[in-house]
Amino acid sequence: MSSDPSSPSSSTGAKSATPENPQRLYGRRKGPTMSQRQEQLLETLLPKIRVPAAKEMDETINPADLFSKEITDYWFEVGFGKGEHLYWQAEHFPTTGMIGCEFYLNGVASLLGKIDENTRDNIRLYEGDARHVMKALPEASIGRAFLLHPDPWPKNRHAKRRFVSQENLDLFARLLKDNCELRIGTDHPVYARWTMLQMSLRDDFVWMAEGPDDWRKSPADWPETRYEQKAKDGIPVYLRFKRLARTK
Ligand SMILES: C[S@@+](CC[C@H](N)C(=O)[O-])C[C@H]1O[C@@H](n2cnc3c(N)ncnc32)[C@H](O)[C@@H]1O
Repeated sequence: MSSDPSSPSSSTGAKSATPENPQRLYGRRKGPTMSQRQEQLLETLLPKIRVPAAKEMDETINPADLFSKEITDYWFEVGFGKGEHLYWQAEHFPTTGMIGCEFYLNGVASLLGKIDENTRDNIRLYEGDARHVMKALPEASIGRAFLLHPDPWPKNRHAKRRFVSQENLDLFARLLKDNCELRIGTDHPVYARWTMLQMSLRDDFVWMAEGPDDWRKSPADWPETRYEQKAKDGIPVYLRFKRLARTK
């Protein structure tokens, strides 16, 4: 087993930060209720549609190399949970390549179950820290990115664990093509405020909302996720940011 707990071959979770994994990962890697079929799908189907991570690569990942058919755009989702949103997008935009990352293996296995039943050829998955893939994809290679109901870590002392950080926004800004969208959903008021504050510090993103309905109502192409449905922390908000055009 790898000594890097955030590597896909580990099942325990990270213990300490390293230059490669600057911020510790939290949360369970695997829950107790994985079925035999799910275990099997992780062994058989996942390797066929898996994205190799940066540290397993000598060079940048070319997203076109990940898919076996012609793809018109590439979209990227961080922490897809059980993959309801990712699958919906893949189904409704069949020529778009959906690249999803999820650290929790039971979630990955759930999505694999759905892919296995309905054969989708425009989904690629990474069962580990999304930042590994974000660093490996080329600059301006992604047409839309999603971060939906990230773990809120509402206590101030845990703020460093929130996925929305200047460091990770730099990664999104690097990945996204000019004028393309980063979507962030949350039902936690602390996380919503935090996101707006972090975004207000950026000169490469602009909030797209023109009125309250733009962030209070979900757009038609923003299907409900499992955590959005639970909305246990408050009323969900739908935050859309445009990656401004690069000036140089
Ligand atoms: C609260 S859940 C939300 C899941 C899903 N997006 C939804 O809305 O139903 C957050 C998910 O993000 C995953 N996650 C957190 N940090 C991650 C990272 N750095 N890379 C990949 N997945 C991550 C967690 O494992 C967890 O499944």
